[in-house]
Amino acid sequence: MTSAVAKCSVFIATSLDGFISRTDGSIDWLDEANTRVPKGEDCGYEQFMSTVDALVMGRHTFELARSFGEWPYGHTPVFVLSSRVTSLPGDVPNTVRLSCEEPATLVAQLSAQNMKHLYIDGGVTIQRFLASALIDEVTITRIPILIGSGRPLFGPLSQDVRLEHISTHAFNFGFVQSKYRVIKAPNPLMQPTGHKRPAAD
Ligand SMILES: NC(=O)c1ccc[n+]([C@@H]2O[C@H](COP(=O)([O-])OP(=O)(O)OC[C@H]3O[C@@H](n4cnc5c(N)ncnc54)[C@H](OP(=O)(O)O)[C@@H]3O)[C@@H](O)[C@H]2O)c1
Repeated sequence: MTSAVAKCSVFIATSLDGFISRTDGSIDWLDEANTRVPKGEDCGYEQFMSTVDALVMGRHTFELARSFGEWPYGHTPVFVLSSRVTSLPGDVPNTVRLSCEEPATLVAQLSAQNMKHLYIDGGVTIQRFLASALIDEVTITRIPILIGSGRPLFGPLSQDVRLEHISTHAFNFGFVQSKYRVIKAPNPLMQPTGHKRPAAD
């Protein structure tokens, strides 16, 4: 029996100008903004995590997670994507695995292991999964700050990606969280980005 393809979700914070970190990978602006979040408020993170079977993250996001001191993902399996790293440091929990698979191959492998919901994290990684039409849901929490430059959440696409807005919640401390569903069906009127098919005579 073939297993259903796992749902892939993004749950991420960006600056108002669309960056997930500074160019050097630092998120000091996000840490600073989080100090103004009332105690006990996590913007839905724990609820989201409770539905996740595994995380798939890029090497840079893994390096950020390691810098937190305490490993932040508990017993949830984590798959770290890298084409360069061949082994993990000894102090990394045994729930963490390395992978250099293409997104579609990894999702197929994890789906076959009966994983139903994957949390995809890291800008480059999210962009690769989007390009492979594997992202189903995107939750973005916009932080009211402009940082001017950095690593973007989104990047170039070979064709448009259409989304359906599900909800938006404005927190009274200034964060605005929007949830979208990615519409997978191709739009026959659209050619690859920038080329709209002219209307027939
Ligand atoms: N604002 C937030 O909520 C948030 C959340 C997460 C992360 N961040 C920040 O964002 C930064 C990371 O974003 P990022 O865009 O630089 O990248 P990223 O996706 O975390 O990491 C990119 C790296 O992942 C590896 N990779 C991704 N897909 C791969 C594949 N299919 N096969 C092999 N390797 C693959 C490559 O590593 P190799 O070079 O080893 O091949 C690539 O250079 C972090 O530094 C962190 O500070 C912010």
